[in-house]
Amino acid sequence: MRLTEATAQTPTGTAEKTELLPPLRARDAAGVAADVLLPVLAQGVIVRRPSAMSLAERTGWDRRGVERVRALRDRYGPGPLTVRGRSYALVLDPDDAERVLADTPEPFHPAAREKRGALAQFQPHGVLVSSGPQREQRRRFVEEVLETAQPLHGMADRFTSVVRQEAAELLAGADRSGQLVWDEFDAAWWRIVRRLVLGDAARDDTTLTAQLGTLRQAANWSLLSPRRRRLRSAFLARVRSYVARPQPGSLAERVAAVDAPAGTDRAGQIPHWLFAYDAAGMAAGRALVLLATHPDEADRARAEALEGQPDTPRTLPYLRGCALESVRLWPTTPLILRESTEETSWEGGKLPAGCVLAVYTPYLHRAEPAAPYQDIFAPQQWTGETGRAARGNPALLPFSSGPAGCPGENLVLLTVSTLLAALLERHRYSLASHPQLRPAAPVPAALDHFALRFRVHPAGRGTDTD
Ligand code: HEM
Repeated sequence: MRLTEATAQTPTGTAEKTELLPPLRARDAAGVAADVLLPVLAQGVIVRRPSAMSLAERTGWDRRGVERVRALRDRYGPGPLTVRGRSYALVLDPDDAERVLADTPEPFHPAAREKRGALAQFQPHGVLVSSGPQREQRRRFVEEVLETAQPLHGMADRFTSVVRQEAAELLAGADRSGQLVWDEFDAAWWRIVRRLVLGDAARDDTTLTAQLGTLRQAANWSLLSPRRRRLRSAFLARVRSYVARPQPGSLAERVAAVDAPAGTDRAGQIPHWLFAYDAAGMAAGRALVLLATHPDEADRARAEALEGQPDTPRTLPYLRGCALESVRLWPTTPLILRESTEETSWEGGKLPAGCVLAVYTPYLHRAEPAAPYQDIFAPQQWTGETGRAARGNPALLPFSSGPAGCPGENLVLLTVSTLLAALLERHRYSLASHPQLRPAAPVPAALDHFALRFRVHPAGRGTDTD
């Protein structure tokens, strides 16, 4: 039986029995540290490290994490797996994950200590690290500016034209060289992000992105890294300067226009958006990998891209499904963290207050909870046309869920799907890096986006698999 019994002192001094979830055996806990925590930390939680990404891809490190957790689930059952005494617990059951994310911020608070330590480096007032009434007002403000509930943001007209302009410039280079490499893709992506978030004046402000990059590198070390106070002030002042002179058609314009109670720190919410848009760039590049290696899905995506008026905002459901699959297969937040504010009860026993619960998405997205698609690229599961809809499966959490779920999801899907449509309309791609991706083979657990390289052909010549 999984229960262990411990005794605790009540305030009156009488001993009371508490049933605690049993800790993992030392060997199993070491396995979790080596195959689950270490790869996540080594690859970088706040900004990815190229050398570790490459190592993870070559050695199948991420696959080992999923296999390790699957074996532990078989041995210990579905309840959260506790590590390091009971200060950490891995959440593996889809219903438990749903509960943890729905019962946020009480008793499962999103501002876990590890996040507070890391994110204070560049967004000390971000909603993600806020508590109490301040969290509520910041979240309300963020949702209003990002238009969380809307598939097409009110500024979608302008956003569509920005994305298409930058895509055209990127493709002009690809037409000349016959290839597309990550550094060029990434540079174009950041031009898009700066224009959408801060306005056209920020298009070439690579200094801002570099400052954020340095602060994020420090943030990778969470509480272990000293604060880069001077750099943080310079970066935040630069962000605020764009809000002080808001550019038309940018999120900064909305930030300046939307009222919010004192203490919201409206401009102070922007650093998270810039940081998080980086993950969307990775997702976009990887979605292109999936399309370049899956010709049937690429045909369907291209057909959608060619329907309707390209310059008007479109919901592009199939391309959104491709973006969602990219994040499902390679989650950009492999551990979604919560810290319990009180003792909590589970089927197998209790967890104390102050326990950090980690929803381990690589397992939920790839192992049995993700059936029937698991290691298969299946954008159609997000469009509502399959028997088992991904949206109804609590195991699939590319953008998390519940009151602290990603408020930028629709904006991300709009940006990424519009970019993919522009890239696919008149061009075909074959993957010159990562040759192991094939429609009939399981999608690999790790994909080092830094190494991405495509050969680019005009549509009508060449194939998406080559
Ligand atoms: C592929 C791109 C992205 C992915 C996969 C993603 C995913 C996530 C995830 C998993 C969380 C954590 C939620 C939780 O703890 O339950 C989150 C939080 C958040 N995301 Fe995103 N995100 C992306 C891009 C963006 C963008 C571009 C923005 C803004 C423009 C954004 C805004 C936020 C904010 C403000 C939070 C904190 C929410 C809160 O604490 O209430 N995200 N996102």
